[in-house]
Amino acid sequence: MQQLNPQQPNQPLKVSPSGDLSNPQALEQIFQQLVKQLPMNQGEIQQSTSVPDLSPSQANTYGSTVKDPQQSAQQAEGKSASLSSQNTTPIVQGNQPQYYFLAEQTSAVPPSSATTPPQGTVSPSSATTPPQGTVPSSSTTTPPQGADQLTGALPPLFSATEKQSEQSLQQSQEHLHHAPNHQPSAIQMPDEAQLLQLFAQGSHQVPQSQSQLPSTVQESPVAAPSPYGKTPNFYFLPQSPPTLPSEPTQATQIPAQGFNVERVRQDFPALHQQVNGKPLIWMDNAATSQKPQMVIDALAQFYQNDNSNVHRGAHTLAARATNAYEEAREKIQRFLGASLAKEIIYVRGTTEGINLVAQTYGRKEVQAGDEIIVTTLEHHSNIVPWQMLAQEKEAVLKVVPINDRGEVILEEYEKLFSEKTKIVALSHVSNVLGTVLPIKTMTEMAHRYGAVVLVDGAQSVPHLRVNVQDLDVDFFVFSGHKLFAPTGIGAVYGKAALLEAMPPWQGGGNMIDQVSFEKTTFNDIPYKFEAGTGNIADAVGLGVAIDYLNQIGFESAIHHEEMLLNYATQGLNTISGLRQIGTAPGKVSTLSFVLEGVRSEDMGKFLDSEGIAVRSGHHCAQPTLQRYGLTSAVRPSLAFYNTCGEVDALIAAIEKGKKQLS
Ligand SMILES: Cc1ncc(COP(=O)(O)O)c(C=O)c1O
Repeated sequence: MQQLNPQQPNQPLKVSPSGDLSNPQALEQIFQQLVKQLPMNQGEIQQSTSVPDLSPSQANTYGSTVKDPQQSAQQAEGKSASLSSQNTTPIVQGNQPQYYFLAEQTSAVPPSSATTPPQGTVSPSSATTPPQGTVPSSSTTTPPQGADQLTGALPPLFSATEKQSEQSLQQSQEHLHHAPNHQPSAIQMPDEAQLLQLFAQGSHQVPQSQSQLPSTVQESPVAAPSPYGKTPNFYFLPQSPPTLPSEPTQATQIPAQGFNVERVRQDFPALHQQVNGKPLIWMDNAATSQKPQMVIDALAQFYQNDNSNVHRGAHTLAARATNAYEEAREKIQRFLGASLAKEIIYVRGTTEGINLVAQTYGRKEVQAGDEIIVTTLEHHSNIVPWQMLAQEKEAVLKVVPINDRGEVILEEYEKLFSEKTKIVALSHVSNVLGTVLPIKTMTEMAHRYGAVVLVDGAQSVPHLRVNVQDLDVDFFVFSGHKLFAPTGIGAVYGKAALLEAMPPWQGGGNMIDQVSFEKTTFNDIPYKFEAGTGNIADAVGLGVAIDYLNQIGFESAIHHEEMLLNYATQGLNTISGLRQIGTAPGKVSTLSFVLEGVRSEDMGKFLDSEGIAVRSGHHCAQPTLQRYGLTSAVRPSLAFYNTCGEVDALIAAIEKGKKQLS
């Protein structure tokens, strides 16, 4: 793995081993070279011009022009859902929207042998969810190695084999931070064997993320003239939006051991409070996630320094605000693996994004008798806009069934297609079941029938690495607030050719080219779809949330969460009378359950009294719950900042609640 130099992030650490490596003097020289390239202290890191790898809670970087090291990740091949055959039954016809439901599949389906994750996602490591009933009945399960405990010792940053060099590094860093003149000469040299190991394993010695940086706190400067450190570019209409070339697909190689949850939690102020006299345990992440200090600071800084409308005024603040707004669009582009920044449209969130596509592409392309396909596990946001369109156009809505584990039945999916199929609208991840849909396979099928595919990524982007080009989806929509960013901001990705051919949605300022009373012409994409003043500050905040994920190492955060989900799944299985809803292999984040004899709403309230925030109810996905004969469920949902200690507390609280409520 190439290790980036924290002082010059685009440069690898350089060592020129000119001498005999068995000679301690030559080795010392090499070590000095390495040391010179390490950050001396937090202050030095922050002062360097283009350093992204700051403590997210300390950095003030929304204008950072740093290149994202994780611009597009390798995408793993997907699995096939298990198949079974069912019949299609029309239930409503005529002028109303028509619905085709397949006969419910109630019998258990043989377990899928496939364990690889769906395409277009980062491979979760080996098959995850253990079969129910196979775990010991004790409610105290042993945390996996390296797992944190709520009150226990922090997990080691490095593996045992790295211990020796880690100690050397710590010694070196201590000297670096305490030596008054910060001179490398103050370092106590490791012995030769340590040095060789250090040299060989140099990549582990440099902070991988802010979580490994010393925890000295440095205030963000409040009023900097330009946070970008460069002359602002001015974007004025009708200038085309900036576009970036597609970056080569590359997985970020941050070892799972590099993720230190306790340090990451320091970045989230909301996690450190008491609720109902207990430490808050935030497990309502599927509804919305907490925000890192870096995002909160970026919002304050925007309003303190740079607040202006964008694309309009010929003055410095307008340029700064416009730059920050457009840089955030580029960050989203890279985060999603899109090839062009103009393929990213700002919206309020997933709901608005789906409505935008339904009301523009949908209204233009869907005619009477045409068909739209959705799945049983959609959020209401990915049902109702299509229902409304179907009603208006006298089109037909068809629904893909799921099996008992919560996987879509691909064989039945394929049966739903005809030459009239125009749109397929799919959740990437179910917000109730956590199922990850095989989007690449499903998209290939849809394209064979000439249909376009919209993916609702609200629940996938916080938990999976997404690459829209690899998935080949036509539209991808997500909400910032589930991705550690502010509420009221999200994005639609659309293939440029489709967006260009689509009519605008809302009319107003920004979306026009020329206006007269006789005729109006429209702006280029993406602005054609961004009428009026957008949510500028929160868009900037979304860009900073993406920076944050890159800085902590998104892949290692994903691994931590995967370990946590396994641990929690096993823990829940120890509770008698508890039934987990959604057991698909490779699922992410959600742990929906019902408990015999206890109303879900009562359990939700009880958990709140214990300081544990979960969602209970229908989760805006009533058809999903109906599939399991339910109207509500309790839904704890995890994020990378949750801990095994919190999971233990959840299990204990459910046991306690069960006794009190049943
Ligand atoms: C799968 C899914 N789609 C869509 C939405 C709607 O997102 P928003 O309310 O941010 O528009 C949600 C929200 O929970 C969701 O989980």
